[in-house]
Amino acid sequence: ASSADPYDVVIIGGGPGGYVAAIKAGQSGLKAACIEKRGTLGGTCLNVGCIPSKALLHNSELYHAAGHEFKNRGIDIKDMSLNLGQMMKAKDSSVGALTKGVEGLLKKNKVDYIKGAASFAGPTSINVQLNDGGETQIEAKNVVIATGSEVTPFPGIEIDEEQIVSSTGALALKKVPEKMIVIGGGVIGLEMGSVWNRLGSQVSVVEFLPTIGGAGMDHEVAANFKKILEKQGLKFNLGTKVIDAEKKDGKVFLNVEDAKSGKKQQIDADVVLVAIGRRPYTKGLNLEAIGVETDKRGRIVVDDAYNTTCKGVKCIGDATFGPMLAHKAEEEGIAVIEMLARGHGHVNYEAIPAVVYTHPEVAWVGKSEQELKDAGVSYKIGKFPFLANSRAKTNQDSEGFVKTIVEKETEKILGVHIIGPNAGELISSSVLAIEYGASAEDTSAVCHAHPTLSEAVKESALAATDKAHHKA
Ligand code: FAD
Ligand code: NAI
Repeated sequence: ASSADPYDVVIIGGGPGGYVAAIKAGQSGLKAACIEKRGTLGGTCLNVGCIPSKALLHNSELYHAAGHEFKNRGIDIKDMSLNLGQMMKAKDSSVGALTKGVEGLLKKNKVDYIKGAASFAGPTSINVQLNDGGETQIEAKNVVIATGSEVTPFPGIEIDEEQIVSSTGALALKKVPEKMIVIGGGVIGLEMGSVWNRLGSQVSVVEFLPTIGGAGMDHEVAANFKKILEKQGLKFNLGTKVIDAEKKDGKVFLNVEDAKSGKKQQIDADVVLVAIGRRPYTKGLNLEAIGVETDKRGRIVVDDAYNTTCKGVKCIGDATFGPMLAHKAEEEGIAVIEMLARGHGHVNYEAIPAVVYTHPEVAWVGKSEQELKDAGVSYKIGKFPFLANSRAKTNQDSEGFVKTIVEKETEKILGVHIIGPNAGELISSSVLAIEYGASAEDTSAVCHAHPTLSEAVKESALAATDKAHHKA
């Protein structure tokens, strides 16, 4: 093939959806290109999302433990202090290594990496405004849109990324704010709120709903989670509506009102984090010109094979339906290329885990109790507390529990919800269980090593079976 031949597939966006699709395309022998305007690959996740937030979560947790827990564990440290600059450098170096690694993978798999902003000139032809200046036009037999998402703005509250920040600014504050207000008690609010709380800020979360954790979290877990975070020092104003914000004398003043009583109040902080969700990002793509439809929430409309309303143009990841998660985007990246290369591909949306990387972590897969209730499904629950798990006790880290929800008649596992140490790692065996249609007995019959936290997953499955119910 000469370089003038059209590409088999061009992927717009180099995030977890786009770069995984690009690599898979190269491995499948397709002539492929990935267009990314950011200057580095990895998208939101590697540059300003999953990866930098987890670097700060891990190191702030160590700092907090060193200051508050090490003594009880028999470790005395003298002269401990925070070096925020170094903590940020450590984060930046993980990000830098990973984004360069992705660039290496594209090269290795013979994918052309085009640095610039893409815009449709036609369904098969794309204009690219190159980052280095100038413009180029490329032709493609197929296009995959993987342009991701952006922060949902709060009407009337302007983000300056210093005093009023999005998650991006919250990942790069130059000093620890004395007081921080987080608008939105979802995943970003709780993760970034935890980081700054551990580093010494007084953090208050203002949330419109009566519960925390965002969509999908089991309500029983969410209630337990809130209590644990409160013990750590986070404050919650639930059922509270933010009206507006004003910057004065180096502070931000927020006017809020109780959602039920309408009672108004003013609260102030040094830094306000706006974390009320994310929305699909399709700016500049010129979708109208090729007839790609979006829904009311800006999501690109696709069928079950990721086809948009324009023939030859597909869409995956945060820009379309489903949970805005990196691993969901990656699974779709693989499936969309398998469809192109071999005619079929599949993602099991019933078996996508969600993890909140606080301490303790919260992780789940499948249905929550409230979802099953709403759907009128008969279920049984098995629960096991980490307090009764020997490894959690040995580690002096025994808050939380594992909750296994099974179908009443068949004991098929419908959902597993974990709040506790390493929940994010522990959930993977439950994802496998759901993927393979396992029953609680299947899980409880599998040998788990002792002493491990994973025994709590087994015990919770056992507690959901009739065997356990008949034990007493
Ligand atoms: P993105 O990663 O957003 O990538 C899209 C890319 O497309 C961007 O780099 C953008 O520059 C580029 N682009 C857009 N338009 C154009 C154009 N016209 N031309 C060229 N390039 C373009 N998810 C998890 O699963 N786990 C986590 O722990 C987690 N933590 C997060 C923490 C934070 C603070 C945030 C904000 C998000 C987090 N997420 C997490 C969500 C995760 O980042 C997203 O779900 C994921 O990045 C979506 O991947 P994507 O490929 O669809 O889009
Ligand atoms: P979110 O949807 O998780 O939470 C937003 C919260 O803000 C909700 O609880 C909502 O009720 C509340 N809210 C909305 N409008 C409000 C208002 N006007 N006033 C007060 N509260 C309001 O969104 P978040 O935290 O911004 O994160 C965006 C997405 O990024 C997540 O949904 C998730 O998909 C992804 N993400 C995933 C992570 C992970 O997997 N660990 C970590 C961080 C982000």
